[in-house]
Amino acid sequence: MCMAWGRGLRPGVVPGAMAAERALAMATCTAPVNIAVIKYWGKRDTDLILPINSSLSVTLHQDQLKTTTTAAASRDFTEDRLWLNGAEVDVGHPRVQACLREVRRLARKRRGGSEDTATLSLLSYKVHVASENNFPTAAGLASSAAGYACLVSALARLYGVEDELSEVARRGSGSACRSMWGGFVQWQRGERSDGTDSLAHQVAPETHWPELRVLVLVVSGKKKPVASTAGMQTSVETSPLLKHRAEVVVPERLAQMIRHIRERDFEGFGQLTMQDSNQFHATCLDTFPPIFYLNDLSRHIIALAHRYNTHHGHTKVAYTFDAGPNAVIFTLADTVDEFVEVVRCSFPPATNGDQFVRGLPVGSAALPQELMAAVVTEPVPGAVQYILHTKPGPGPQLVDDPSQHLLGADGLPRRHA
Ligand code: PMV
Repeated sequence: MCMAWGRGLRPGVVPGAMAAERALAMATCTAPVNIAVIKYWGKRDTDLILPINSSLSVTLHQDQLKTTTTAAASRDFTEDRLWLNGAEVDVGHPRVQACLREVRRLARKRRGGSEDTATLSLLSYKVHVASENNFPTAAGLASSAAGYACLVSALARLYGVEDELSEVARRGSGSACRSMWGGFVQWQRGERSDGTDSLAHQVAPETHWPELRVLVLVVSGKKKPVASTAGMQTSVETSPLLKHRAEVVVPERLAQMIRHIRERDFEGFGQLTMQDSNQFHATCLDTFPPIFYLNDLSRHIIALAHRYNTHHGHTKVAYTFDAGPNAVIFTLADTVDEFVEVVRCSFPPATNGDQFVRGLPVGSAALPQELMAAVVTEPVPGAVQYILHTKPGPGPQLVDDPSQHLLGADGLPRRHA
């Protein structure tokens, strides 16, 4: 069971709103972002979203980055409707429809044609869904992963489904299946053509490596130039490097990465994380026509991390980049204060000096002269918008408090855009 549902609640309902006879049933969940350290890039089945290689990620803490989704069903609703960040969007999107269809199918299967009329009625009602991120959408911060994981969690809760749900979340966005678990998560590519063995499972819980920290260096809140769906299929069709990566490199790296995580070996974990990010972006360059997700600033951050590690004589920070220019830095708690100061000196904040560091607290650090000279070589003022300090966190959560629902008693969003 991947979700930390509250105890004592009947599935799929707000307390007091269980019976189908009542006007409205509602459930709210939150779900996390995840960052891959062994990247997924490329599908072997674009409809079922089956990957060409397995992948491994770290789930980030929802105190800093999360999606919240409320799903409601009512006999009074005349159509399915969906709101993202307060604005109504097309509910007919095939991936949203796939998630809705699959959760409903599991709910029916669970009831097995039984006498549970409450759920059967719920299943015949239209749904309203409202979802909000507390971070920029489509900026390479895996918002679709948190979004689909949250959609599936909230719908499952609404209908009382407790099955393995990573298979359903995968139908929304491949990486979303990894957001169904906390901590360190592997998405096994699977072998079957129907996708029933292409599932995510937890390698280690979020408590396994208490010193591990994550710094998200936000350089751009803009939408990515090439959506991952289009980009990865061009890569599958044209990149010989991607084929070699999927067949030869990733299987070896996955086994190594799991070992580094189990042993809490930051040197090994950090090096492999950087190498795998670099190879992913190399496959993007090997794609024809090529795709560029990194920009000059990303490359600046990569060079800075290497200078910093070289100065210290071992791997103290490790970068990784998804389909966007924002850098995600893994490090250990005892390095955070110093490295944040290095980033601040390298990218002096233009206007928001007091909001430059967000999330978990960061202490002050005085940088030794030799470190400044060796590492902070050519400052670029204003280039990093802000740093978000976070750590590994748990999987999807049920929100018990009815005041937190994103939909009101009328089934419409409480806050409009
Ligand atoms: O799940 P998608 O289609 O958004 O693809 C995500 C791909 C990467 O973020 C670049 C890598 C990964 O494994 O998350």
